[in-house]
Amino acid sequence: MALRVGVIGGGQLARMMIAPAVELGLDLRVLAESDGMSAGLAATAVGDYRDLDTVRAFVADVDVVTFDHEHVPQEVLRALVEDGVSVHPGPHALQFAQDKLVMRAKLAELGVPQPDWAAVHDPDELARFLDDHDGRGVVKTPRGGYDGKGVRVVRDAADAQDWFDALNEGEALLVEELVPFVRELAQQVARRPSGEIAAYPVVETVQRDGVCAEVIAPAPSAPVRLSEVAEGIGRSIAEGLGVTGMLAVELFETADERVLVNELAMRPHNSGHWSQDGAVTGQFEQHLRAVADLPLGDTTPRAPWSVMVNILGGPQEGTIGERFAAAMTEHPSAKIHTYGKDPRPGRKVGHVNVVGQDLDDAVYQARAAAAHFD
Ligand SMILES: Nc1ncnc2c1ncn2[C@@H]1O[C@H](COP(=O)(O)OP(=O)(O)OP(=O)(O)O)[C@@H](O)[C@H]1O
Ligand SMILES: [Mg+2]
Repeated sequence: MALRVGVIGGGQLARMMIAPAVELGLDLRVLAESDGMSAGLAATAVGDYRDLDTVRAFVADVDVVTFDHEHVPQEVLRALVEDGVSVHPGPHALQFAQDKLVMRAKLAELGVPQPDWAAVHDPDELARFLDDHDGRGVVKTPRGGYDGKGVRVVRDAADAQDWFDALNEGEALLVEELVPFVRELAQQVARRPSGEIAAYPVVETVQRDGVCAEVIAPAPSAPVRLSEVAEGIGRSIAEGLGVTGMLAVELFETADERVLVNELAMRPHNSGHWSQDGAVTGQFEQHLRAVADLPLGDTTPRAPWSVMVNILGGPQEGTIGERFAAAMTEHPSAKIHTYGKDPRPGRKVGHVNVVGQDLDDAVYQARAAAAHFD
């Protein structure tokens, strides 16, 4: 009988595991939040991932549980582990991707380079941090942020008043120094329960309005030292935190060539979509191999350059489907991936990968193909 992999969450990341699961002969099942989700094709259950009974019923007939997102509560995850369910990544590792304050404290303990930071419980504590950092900082809600929601540059403690008002007794916000980065990078590694690790080349990511817009793999003009430092950070976090499955480490590169950790994701990540078409083993296949404790695949790029451009928002008029033929006709080298989601401003509804010998041409083809979906 095929190994049954249960994915909690029905977004595009679960959707993009479907094709590699079929090829690997795995039986993929998805617990979707509602009908009509991106991964609806593989949804065997619909329900609330915060409800232990719902999740228990879903995992009753799977061999391994993994995730499309990091939002399953610790109580639910721990109960599954106590039930004897194989959960990857496990709750102990996942807590560091669920709460940015817990992550900052752990990375400090591991000695991983990161921005200056503090847990601030009230505006006075924030004001003191800002005084020590040229009057500026980046305030973050520790939990539940995505696509820049829950991230705010502040120049005055009052700028975060509404977030302080929303805190419960004893809770804190995270504040970080405003890093004057020259660019953002991402390092991905996969780790099996047995300990084997495979690292991808470090990539450059471009965020617009806090949302990933483009990725270039590998990161252009990255000296060997930079690549080695990034890979070393990825490996030590995967090992130090006991991550299983794919890990993405978002990084800042500074003008003085330091690399600082921004945040972690323990699942396939937007910064790794290029690998679907640009690496010998794509990140969705690699995630499945890792959580199923199968030997990891080769992460070598298939060509000198891979470029990924997100399709954000989708067409103002008409449907995504209507745009395909023209994009394909004009850009036959573009691999167009869509998520089956309705267009909405700023929403990630798909992406385009172009792989090739010439970086400028790959960037042009990917951007032009993605623009057909505006
Ligand atoms: N300390 C910082 N200094 C400068 N810029 C920052 C800092 N922290 C975050 N940013 C900017 O804001 C973006 C979003 O921040 P972050 O990755 O923490 O948020 P997120 O909403 O959790 O993101 P994601 O969509 O990746 O989950 C970063 O990619 C970066 O461009
Ligand atoms: Mg981020």
